[in-house]
Amino acid sequence: MSRQTRDFRFLLYLAESIVIIVGVAQISDYIRRRIFGGDLNKTLQDHDVKAHQKRLLQLSKIKDPEVLKKTIDELASSLDNEIGDVKEGIEGCIGNTPLIKIKSLSEATGCEILAKAEFLNGAGNSPKDRVALSIIEMAESKGLLVPHSGDTIYEGTVGSTGISLAAICRARGYKAHICMPNDMAVEKSDLLLKLGAEVERVRPAPIVDQNQFVNLARVRAASHTAGSDKPGRGLFADQFETEANWRAHFTGTGPEIYEQSGGRLDAFVSGAGTGGTISGVALHLKPKLPKLKVVLADPPGSGLYNRVKFGVMFDPKEREGTRRRHQVDTIVEGIGINRVTHNFDIGRELIDDAIRVTDNQALAMARWLVENDGIFVGSSSAVNCVAATKLAKQLGPGHRIVTLLCDSGARHLSKFWANKEVGGSENDVSLEAILAP
Ligand SMILES: Cc1ncc(COP(=O)(O)O)c(C=O)c1O
Repeated sequence: MSRQTRDFRFLLYLAESIVIIVGVAQISDYIRRRIFGGDLNKTLQDHDVKAHQKRLLQLSKIKDPEVLKKTIDELASSLDNEIGDVKEGIEGCIGNTPLIKIKSLSEATGCEILAKAEFLNGAGNSPKDRVALSIIEMAESKGLLVPHSGDTIYEGTVGSTGISLAAICRARGYKAHICMPNDMAVEKSDLLLKLGAEVERVRPAPIVDQNQFVNLARVRAASHTAGSDKPGRGLFADQFETEANWRAHFTGTGPEIYEQSGGRLDAFVSGAGTGGTISGVALHLKPKLPKLKVVLADPPGSGLYNRVKFGVMFDPKEREGTRRRHQVDTIVEGIGINRVTHNFDIGRELIDDAIRVTDNQALAMARWLVENDGIFVGSSSAVNCVAATKLAKQLGPGHRIVTLLCDSGARHLSKFWANKEVGGSENDVSLEAILAP
């Protein structure tokens, strides 16, 4: 029997003892039969053990014998399922995404370019699934959310986080209310509506404006809690500032990259929207791999490139007043920002370099990935791949670079992918042409 399994059994005994202390000793036999009846000889993964620890802690707080019995049944069945290979609902399909080698880029550069296929997260199909689940679990553990009580999660998002929140809210018995800029691809807000979220598409505005989408979500959450017209409470998810964001990558994405690559990687490349991904992954990997280069991939109009390279948040386009939009002037969605959020700041010192990627480079890379690898991705994934390829050229052959494929091109059909044909002779571009400024 493995040590983890032994630890887990110990925890189960502990739970039994707690149950006895609260005076429902007859339930203890029930736990023994239901839970220890299963085959525990298979090794439980670390994260499984942590999840069970959390559930056992919740168990210890239940005083009503009927509720306790029902919860134990659920725990026992989830344990049976994990010993086989059955996922516990849609939340069980989040994380453990594959790390895939992008063959065309690897062959062309002589470096291994590996990408974490985050679009395969099973709820909202992006890395934001990890963040949304982490936000909800953190709020639940603090008693801030009660299922089926009308409790509603409010978030300001350009789309992906909203989609993940909306899906997981459905699964957990909450409502979702999403505020987003009205210039984001319309398929994102359509999808949110189909998931049953309430959606407010608002005019793009700077963060100092009270009607900016993030500020609006905060205000809506507060007025839900204060008012008496809606049941339950409002919870502002606050993906830009919450600890739950970078921690999801610190405990999930980062360790997965380390394990899947066997700890053999020279660089990690990622764009930043909230900054949660790059910070969380860097915070996990850097202490283990001090020589690792962490590189930011940044789209036009974002101030982060200058923040990393020169220590100041400044983009020439802003000074010239040529920005078409209020946030970031690019067709790329999900990354690039003009303020330092807590989630970016927490890992900022660990970011070694930044690479600027133009919209045309991202578009050309997106087509290249379809034509050469059959990989159909959205704009931020294309930016990541341009930056990873530029870095490969800088480092020279023989290096291993890990980046992320964040979401599918299907989510960008009306904007990033609009009017872009694949397979025509004009698309027969070389990688050098893609990388040219
Ligand atoms: C589509 C997309 N692009 C980029 C990112 C990276 O963003 P962040 O810095 O918020 O972690 C994400 C994050 O999940 C995403 O879903």
